[in-house]
Amino acid sequence: MSRDLGSFRESYDRAVLRRADLAAEPIEQFERWWDEWLSVPRRDATACVLATASSTGVPSARWVLCKGWDASGFEIYTNRESRKAHDLRANARAALVFGWLDDDHQVRVEGPVTEIDDATADAYWASRPRGSQLGGWASDQSEVLSGRDELEQHRAEAVERFGGDDDSGPPVPRPPYWGGYRIGIDRMEFWQGRPDRLHDRFSYSRSTDGWTIDRLSP
Ligand SMILES: Cc1cc2nc3c(=O)[nH]c(=O)nc-3n(C[C@H](O)[C@H](O)[C@H](O)COP(=O)(O)O)c2cc1C
Repeated sequence: MSRDLGSFRESYDRAVLRRADLAAEPIEQFERWWDEWLSVPRRDATACVLATASSTGVPSARWVLCKGWDASGFEIYTNRESRKAHDLRANARAALVFGWLDDDHQVRVEGPVTEIDDATADAYWASRPRGSQLGGWASDQSEVLSGRDELEQHRAEAVERFGGDDDSGPPVPRPPYWGGYRIGIDRMEFWQGRPDRLHDRFSYSRSTDGWTIDRLSP
């Protein structure tokens, strides 16, 4: 296994991104790249990295699945008692990064975070497989466990409480601590890998009358 990390080099020569190619709205540009990304099957196609910061400015980042987007932002679902949720309570701003590396694409999103309303969270919760729902009840996300056994025990309790783990069982309600967040869009950036590290970067920043688009140095 090579530890000569300097020898791992990619050449980014698949495409270019010109100002004239850009959509007027960042979400429209996102959708163009999303369609390209999905032109072949992808594992965890909607995965992105969510970065938050605590009240004292300590950053942390983790993968999450994006469950929807529109001009108002990007939706993610999680445990509202988790570390990320504590961060968001103290500092309701976040960044998301989509790393569509097989396309030489990176998309960055930054903006204010709001909680997704209960009706929308209920609808998404109801669409999840029963096993995931029971897992949601079993996990005190981000808390320390004494061991795997404790987690399995929590799951067994949830199975017992909600009528079994067979899909034909009664509906599993959404836990009060489980819900969604919308990462709003103040800024988005599209990065297209180019040869010799002369990549194309364009940022969209929200301004009073729409979006300001800038080309950034790579
Ligand atoms: C591909 C992938 C997708 C994930 N999707 C989610 C998700 O949608 N929601 C979630 O709460 N955790 C998700 N996780 C787990 C998180 O990365 C993380 O471990 C968890 O949310 C706890 O993070 P926290 O302690 O910083 O709050 C995912 C992990 C991976 C690797």
